[in-house]
Amino acid sequence: MKKTAIIYTSRYGSAERYAKWLAEETGADLYGSDVKTEILAGYERIVFGGGIHAGGIEGMAKYRKVFKAMPEKEYVAFAVGLNLGDAERKECREINFRKAMTDIPCFFLRGAYDPEKVTGFDRSLMKFVKKSLEKKPEHERTKAESELLDAIGNGADYVDRDALTPLAEALKSDEPVPLNNYGQDYDGALAEAIERLATKKKNREE
Ligand SMILES: Cc1cc2nc3c(=O)[nH]c(=O)nc-3n(C[C@H](O)[C@H](O)[C@H](O)COP(=O)(O)O)c2cc1C
Repeated sequence: MKKTAIIYTSRYGSAERYAKWLAEETGADLYGSDVKTEILAGYERIVFGGGIHAGGIEGMAKYRKVFKAMPEKEYVAFAVGLNLGDAERKECREINFRKAMTDIPCFFLRGAYDPEKVTGFDRSLMKFVKKSLEKKPEHERTKAESELLDAIGNGADYVDRDALTPLAEALKSDEPVPLNNYGQDYDGALAEAIERLATKKKNREE
């Protein structure tokens, strides 16, 4: 296997769980996002990942710096979220992988949500998402919307070690990891609700 480093950033622990399993399965070295670029210089392949919060992948600012310093290396990403339908994955790619980073493959993995752990702005945001979903009559909600509503109210944990298999297998190969939109398929509503919040905030400011 190519000499590989895994760097992760995790606000609530899901991305950390995946990163640790991935290191176990592949034998790659594991680092937190405070790792120095000089240390990463010794690797051929750099895997970076984080939880998705309001569309952004945690740690992206750091990962962009690393990429800018060493664009010649091979990069692979993973993003952990609750709402990973086709449209959301596409949007997540557009938000996080721009310009020279556009062709970095990103694996999408389902995360977890524990309402007891969430505080401050994150809590307010999730309350807003919940309210927006509740406005829609129950029979009109998609499966993903009902699941999300349930997750926000009662918590949910979709973190699944088996979901890492395609990424672990790709890393074990010496071939470059192909660009793809990996992940399970299902409809989603969180991104829509977040967009509505952003529009509402913008309208208030105007
Ligand atoms: C404030 C907040 C915003 C979130 N926004 C998104 C999102 O835009 N898309 C998504 O798929 N999941 C979203 N989630 C769900 C998280 O991505 C999920 O809980 C993930 O497991 C977090 O990873 P972490 O535990 O490593 O921080 C959000 C969660 C919170 C608390």
